[in-house]
Amino acid sequence: MDKFKIFHCNGLKGEVAISGSKNSALPIMAAAILSSGKFELDNIPSLRDIYTMKKVLEYLGAKIEYCAETKKMLIDTTCLNKTTAPYELVKTMRASAVVLGPLLTRFGKARVSLPGGCAIGARPLNIHLKGFEDLKAKINIESGYINASIKKKLIGGTVILDFPSVGATENIMMAAALAEGKTEIINAAREPEIVDLANMLNKMGARIKNAGENKIEIIGVKKLKAVKYKVIPDRIEAGTFLTAVGLIGGRIKIKNIIMEHLPVVIEKLLEIGVKIERVSKNIIIASRAKKIKATNIKTLPFPGFATDMQAQFCAMLSVAEGVSLISETVFENRFMHISELNRLGANISIDHNTAIIKGVKELSAAQIMASDLRAGAALVLAGLAARGETELLRVYHIDRGYENIELKFSKLGAHIERIKSKSFDI
Ligand code: UD1
Repeated sequence: MDKFKIFHCNGLKGEVAISGSKNSALPIMAAAILSSGKFELDNIPSLRDIYTMKKVLEYLGAKIEYCAETKKMLIDTTCLNKTTAPYELVKTMRASAVVLGPLLTRFGKARVSLPGGCAIGARPLNIHLKGFEDLKAKINIESGYINASIKKKLIGGTVILDFPSVGATENIMMAAALAEGKTEIINAAREPEIVDLANMLNKMGARIKNAGENKIEIIGVKKLKAVKYKVIPDRIEAGTFLTAVGLIGGRIKIKNIIMEHLPVVIEKLLEIGVKIERVSKNIIIASRAKKIKATNIKTLPFPGFATDMQAQFCAMLSVAEGVSLISETVFENRFMHISELNRLGANISIDHNTAIIKGVKELSAAQIMASDLRAGAALVLAGLAARGETELLRVYHIDRGYENIELKFSKLGAHIERIKSKSFDI
């Protein structure tokens, strides 16, 4: 378990290139289950979660080659022959549950472990499972496993989601791609990763319309084929670097950013005093000269403010002028970073699902601990802004979703040291 030593940074300067989207790459890798053949995926980030999904697919019988330098991944599903995703793998990453839909629709049965608890909330899979039942699958839960089966084929139908769950929309969309007849997903998630997955599936021969809208229409096809596909850039990583500029100040160029994937985040940054200039389609320059102002935010499904950006905004607004309110409406327990930010001198209290952030003049270094992926990223930013030398424990959470974060920040003039150790972090 590595830890970071994070040194105070006066301002960021330089260039950063955004990696491929983790949340797109994971379901896109799972989509390879839908067809026998050789897939060539591009822009796959070198992250712990990606290696976990690789292990899941390999366990199922796929052969995978991945090159961390070129970001290319070859997945050969010709010998895929298992339909069980075991607890040992699923417990380390909830997103592995997204293999359920593809396995069920292609092989007629799937057995996937229930993922278990999660630091940011209960995160059940009931919406996924109800969706499969709407497509006439039989589901039962036994000994911690979801057993799903179908008679011959899934039968297309209307699936109304209680909440626009990202994972459920992906799982059901993949299952419906090979179902008999037409499926409509109503109250579907509209995140850019849903559109990316639908583009990949359509390239494979699926007939999916209106991904990115509230109602997705899928006409089932008999067979899909293996394809080449490049995943979109990671909007949350891009948002994290933008927030870093808001908090630490300076002027940086961000490459491989799709601004349309971050509508509210960008609007909020502009509102509080971060300057964003578009250099070309996917390149921007972000800068901040004056102190940022307070603002109010509510996390919502896309196109609303992303819950995955909430922790980073808490860190940034902790030094804003005035009082900010951030309401978390997507996950019930996503404020674990607040007590750590307060250890750095922030003044944040929590009232139910709202963080009340009273801006302080500056943060000061302390020993802190990451509790989950985005909380960890927020603490890296806060550590860079804090006076002195901050020690951040449990950086394995950050490695799940940020490619070489310390190297990327070092190219922006900041100094983060990774210390490898086995004994200090229990
Ligand atoms: C995905 C993202 C995650 C992001 C989240 C919300 C991936 C790999 N992860 O997670 O980074 O924070 O979207 O934007 O893409 N829910 C249920 N029952 C279900 C499914 C979800 O109650 O069957 C609830 C969850 O507990 C949560 C809310 O719905 O409160 C949103 O979850 P969901 O959109 O499914 O998130 P994930 O797909 O797990």
